[in-house]
Amino acid sequence: MLFGKKAATVGLDIGSHQIKVVEVQKGGKGHALVNYGIAPLLPEAIVEGEIMDRGLVIDTIKTLFETRKIKSNEVVSSVSGRGVIVKRIPMDKMKEQEARERIKWEAEQHIPFDIADVVLDFQILNPDTGNNQMEVSLVAAKNETINAHLDLLAGAGLNPAVLDYGAFAVQNAFELNYAAAPDEIIALVHIGADITNINFVKGAIPFFTRDLPVAGNACLQLIQKNLGLSYDQASELVRGEQVQDVSAESAAEAFNGFAGDFASQIERTLSFLAMSGGGEKMNRMYLSGGGALIPSLQQHLADKFQIPVELFNPLQKLAYDPNLFGAAGPEKVAPILTLAVGLGIREVK
Ligand SMILES: Nc1ncnc2c1ncn2[C@@H]1O[C@H](COP(=O)(O)OP(=O)(O)OP(=O)(O)O)[C@@H](O)[C@H]1O
Ligand SMILES: [Mg+2]
Repeated sequence: MLFGKKAATVGLDIGSHQIKVVEVQKGGKGHALVNYGIAPLLPEAIVEGEIMDRGLVIDTIKTLFETRKIKSNEVVSSVSGRGVIVKRIPMDKMKEQEARERIKWEAEQHIPFDIADVVLDFQILNPDTGNNQMEVSLVAAKNETINAHLDLLAGAGLNPAVLDYGAFAVQNAFELNYAAAPDEIIALVHIGADITNINFVKGAIPFFTRDLPVAGNACLQLIQKNLGLSYDQASELVRGEQVQDVSAESAAEAFNGFAGDFASQIERTLSFLAMSGGGEKMNRMYLSGGGALIPSLQQHLADKFQIPVELFNPLQKLAYDPNLFGAAGPEKVAPILTLAVGLGIREVK
């Protein structure tokens, strides 16, 4: 055994397209990925973050744990989407304990949800921004969103060791694997099926995060429509497989069409970046999630924004047995595991 006998931490990412799970062990040498699994979900099981078929999602989680022989029922998982809001806010300078008492009142000024219906958390980003002020990252998650998530876990026989916010988990994976200059603006672009989450970070500080309604599903729909294909054929094409009667040129044209739409959506967020004091320019972009693998997307974004655009590799700093990924290697899987790895590397007491 690579890293002693300590139980691994299980990171569980319940996505609308597929469920991802990882087991991460911590040892003197750092982190090791000892196991992972991905299980597809029917598209109607979770729609726009909302659980439509609870039984199906629970069965899929249970089967995934069984087939991957995961024994632990303590999991680190996350919520994201419309039921969660994160904001960077100024507050009077005070100690963390004091801020904890005060945060509800602050949240009322900054969060458009009824404060009675949310769970609040916060983190002091900068304890002294001058003028007796500090800067805080405030997270508000709707009770409804959290309860639906906990209900799924309970149904699958799992206990929540930690419940995180999805974008923070991606950022956590980033901080483990990459070094960024303190003044660089990094765009972490996490492309799922329904939603793309873009999180601009500077140093360890999330400048602002936003969900865009274009991701893998929008690409599949466009490909289906433009090339007259079925859902399955479009999925094959997106995964880089050949589809009968589709020429390489027409496929390339369709993917370029999607990449263009996607890049425009990202461009629109840049004015918000400027408003939040981040300047107009990102220095670098990392693409994660299954949608990161959409053909020509990476190149298109690099050309449009004239910055380095990389595929996120959350396993860069993790040890693992190469046999875990078979002959194909981890390249086509690693970006899909980003959020789950960000959860699996969390400290669990
Ligand atoms: N190898 C691949 N190449 C290209 N695209 C892929 C690949 N694998 C998955 N995708 C696309 O990525 C999307 C799924 O990505 P991911 O697993 O990150 O989503 P999810 O977490 O289930 O969804 P969401 O976060 O929106 O709830 C799908 O739209 C799928 O078509
Ligand atoms: Mg996802």
